[in-house]
Amino acid sequence: MDLFATHLLVNDWIMEAGNKIRHSFGESITVDTKTSRNDLVTNVDKEIEQFLISKIREQFPTHKIMGEEGFGDELTSMDGYVWLIDPIDGTLNFVKRQEDFGIMVALYKDGVGLLGYIYDVMRDRFVYGIKDYGAYCNGRRLSKPEVHSIGDSSINVNGFMLLEANEKEAAMIRKAMVTRTYGASSIEHIQVVLGKSVAYVSTLLAPWDIAAGMVIAKELDLHYSTVDGKEVDFLVPNKKTTGVICSKDIAEEIIAAFK
Ligand code: IPD
Ligand code: CA
Ligand code: CA
Ligand code: CA
Repeated sequence: MDLFATHLLVNDWIMEAGNKIRHSFGESITVDTKTSRNDLVTNVDKEIEQFLISKIREQFPTHKIMGEEGFGDELTSMDGYVWLIDPIDGTLNFVKRQEDFGIMVALYKDGVGLLGYIYDVMRDRFVYGIKDYGAYCNGRRLSKPEVHSIGDSSINVNGFMLLEANEKEAAMIRKAMVTRTYGASSIEHIQVVLGKSVAYVSTLLAPWDIAAGMVIAKELDLHYSTVDGKEVDFLVPNKKTTGVICSKDIAEEIIAAFK
C-alpha cells in the first residue's frame, strides 16, 4: 500500500465529511438516545460513518472497518488492514453546542498504527500522524510538546473522573495548574499534541476514541496506554477501555494514581 496516496485520499474524505457536518446545521437533525439520556446519536453521525465506510470499501474492499455506529464489521482480530472510525466524536457537543466535536479516522495494519486523523470541524484544525513521517496540524509539522511536570499547565480529564476520582486520583489531578474537560476525546487529544495541556486522562473510552490519537502520539514520542499503564486493546469486551496520552516524563506519575 502507498501510504502517501492513501493519506491524500483520507484527507479529501475527511474534508468532505467536515463540509457535510457544517451544512447539516442548516437542516433538521434527528437525535436519538442510545444507552442513556446523555448518550446521543444523530442521523448525521450515521450518514458520516456510512460516507466514510463507502469511500474505504470503494478503494480497499478487503480492509476491515470498526465504526462506532455499527456500519462496519464485527472484528475478532486486528490482523491485516483495519480502519477505526468515529464519525462525530462529541455528539452531545454537536447537538447542544454546535462546536467542540471532531471526526476521527485511523488505519492499522496487524495492530500497528499507520495513519491517524483528528479533525476539529468547527475550528478547521486538522491534526494527523503518518507512521515514521511525523505528525502535522493543517500541514505544519508538529514537534514534541515540551512538558516536564504535571504542574506545567492544564490537565484534560473526562467528566466522570472529576466527579468520581478517589483520593489518589484527585491528588494527581490537583498537581496540574487547572483542569479542562471538553466532552470530546478528539478535542482533548488535540490539546495534548499541540502542547496546550500536559495530558488527557480518561476512564471511559472506546477504540475509535483512541486509535487516531495513538498514531499521532507515537510520531511525537508521547506516551499512550490505559490509565493503569497497560497496552490499549482495541478488541476489549464491550469496546470500553481507558486512556492516557502525555509526555513520557510524567506518564509514570499519572499511572501511579490508578494502581
Ligand atoms: C465520547 C466523547 C467523550 C468521552 C466519551 C466518548 P462520542 O464520544 O469522546 O469525551 O468521554 O467516552 O464516548 O460518543 O460523542 O463519540
Ligand atoms: Ca457516541
Ligand atoms: Ca461518536
Ligand atoms: Ca467518541
